Amino acid sequence: MLLSSGGVPFYKPWITNQDKKAISEAFESRWLTGGPLAAKFENQFADYVDVKYAVSVNSCTAALHLAMRVLNIKSGDEVIVPDVTFAATANAALFVGATPVFADIDEKTFNISPDDVLNKITPKTKAIIPVHYGGQPCDMKELMEIAQDYNLRIVEDCAHSLGAEYEGKKTGSFGVIGCFSFYPTKIITTLEGGMITTNDENLAKKLLVLREHGMSKSAIDRESEASWYYDVVDLGYNYRLNELQAALGISQLERVEDGIKLRMATARYYGERLNFKGIVTPYEAARRSHIYHLYVIKVEEDNFGKTRDELFKKLSANKVGVSLHYTPLHKLSFYKKFLNSTTNKFPVAEQIYQQILSLPLYPTMTKNDVDYVVESIGENAVC
Ligand SMILES: Cc1ncc(COP(=O)(O)O)c(C=O)c1O
Repeated sequence: MLLSSGGVPFYKPWITNQDKKAISEAFESRWLTGGPLAAKFENQFADYVDVKYAVSVNSCTAALHLAMRVLNIKSGDEVIVPDVTFAATANAALFVGATPVFADIDEKTFNISPDDVLNKITPKTKAIIPVHYGGQPCDMKELMEIAQDYNLRIVEDCAHSLGAEYEGKKTGSFGVIGCFSFYPTKIITTLEGGMITTNDENLAKKLLVLREHGMSKSAIDRESEASWYYDVVDLGYNYRLNELQAALGISQLERVEDGIKLRMATARYYGERLNFKGIVTPYEAARRSHIYHLYVIKVEEDNFGKTRDELFKKLSANKVGVSLHYTPLHKLSFYKKFLNSTTNKFPVAEQIYQQILSLPLYPTMTKNDVDYVVESIGENAVC
């Protein structure tokens, strides 16, 4: 018998009264966008990730796009991305006319495989965008060595990994640029939003210009200098994070570590309870922290007695929110035209795609919620 019939959603945002107060105070500001709160959020974010500069933007997709722009990646260039990621990672290369090249993943962590990155490098390769899948850092030592040996730039896609560490150093501080997402399911949220991190002053200056229409001076700069003058020096965009989002970001960042601890504790409890034959709990690699943006299990049909899709249906029927991260890019119709027929082999992604299932995990999830999910999985299962 299941403990609760109310079900458990895949995700619940963690918005506190302090968050709401911060947003309502931001309404009183003269600067509803392009103001001092975005700059304050950027400074605090840079301190947290331990980089020199952070530039806020209105999504991680915008962050990845600007990363490609400031690194001068363009038509004729190739950018290596993991085959198992969200579309935005590959789209970043396409936005600037470059070609995304997909690399297979590691069978344990589901992160990009450094070995397959090596297989995919050509004279046209300019950059690698590793994704710290589910909140567990990639093997940054190996990837940084590859980047150095082949003179490639690393842009970390940290959409899942704010606060995750590899050998004591936070993701977003390894590559030349790091890109973060504040979409509601992410480690912190500004509803929509993103951040770019870098230690390179020149790149930071270019990013500020590009996110604001390519203008040499923002409105707040012009006001402080009592000057109307600005130039347009590049093809820019309106990618600003507004002041209400920045206020929420500041408030959320204050408890980022609390959120991570809650996620990790829930993951631990899942690990203790999920003792079914054929259900493989997430692998935690050495020398890094897994902060559990996602809790991804593998369903081994032979031992579990049901396929992943059968379990998905059963959990959905029990009102447990489940998801799949991700359909490999090479299987999606839009990306098929970018595949190179000779290197188009993704054996690990192909296999994992049949088995993975993302279970609910969010900071306010209770042990009762986990019990409900586990009991829904376990009905009729072999222990
Ligand atoms: C790995 C990855 N990269 C990039 C993005 C894009 O983030 P955003 O929605 O902030 O544009 C996402 C969003 O889910 C993601 O999961």
